[in-house]
Amino acid sequence: MTELLDDTRLEQTAVVANSAMNRDRRLAAYRRELGFDPVAWLLARPGPQRWLDVGCGSAHALFEASESLSGRVRIVGLDLVDYFGGPSRPGIDLVTASVLDWNPDEPFDLITSVHALHYVGDKLAALSRMSSWLTADGHLAANFDTSALRNRNGAALGRQLSTALRRNGFDYNSRTHRITRTGVARPVWEFRYLGADAHAGPNYTGQEAVGSHYE
Ligand SMILES: C[S@@+](CC[C@H](N)C(=O)[O-])C[C@H]1O[C@@H](n2cnc3c(N)ncnc32)[C@H](O)[C@@H]1O
Repeated sequence: MTELLDDTRLEQTAVVANSAMNRDRRLAAYRRELGFDPVAWLLARPGPQRWLDVGCGSAHALFEASESLSGRVRIVGLDLVDYFGGPSRPGIDLVTASVLDWNPDEPFDLITSVHALHYVGDKLAALSRMSSWLTADGHLAANFDTSALRNRNGAALGRQLSTALRRNGFDYNSRTHRITRTGVARPVWEFRYLGADAHAGPNYTGQEAVGSHYE
């Protein structure tokens, strides 16, 4: 039987507290991994914008983006650990906290998460929290691997999960492993979180990732 960990123990495991994981993607890599250009997306919208990046790592992609956003976009970089590649700077707030604990004081027009949800225990809670932080027409885009969500016996949730994601307004592309949604929501899941498996092995990225078990 797989040992399932709570968040506190998960955050201390080698797979999550791994100082060698790739935390240093630049803006070009963000465009590639998300399948769109967050800077162009933000600049195409009228008025001041707010962008949250969950699991921002070094935040170099955000530093680079801010140079083109000419103060029109307030950026928040959130990460469990402060391996930021520099201090917060005008227009960018860097916050050290888990996506499962933190609460923003204002909604966001854009929420991205590049290869970070692979390391979160309760991935459905993370999706719920991020969805609830969007503006009415805000957009969420993240790398996501549905095969990491498993039942008590370790089998993938499969079709039951795909149906639940669709019903809650998420689009999941199993080829690109990207999940998106538009508009604030409070998703309702029929799954109860049991805990995380820190020994699930490598996922589609080739890197060790966290399995998330539900019943
Ligand atoms: C593979 S790195 C990607 C970093 C950055 N997005 C990039 O592409 O360079 C994953 C990041 O997710 C962060 N992370 C893991 N669990 C998290 C959580 N519960 N809340 C916020 N960030 C988390 C890790 O600390 C790590 O910096």
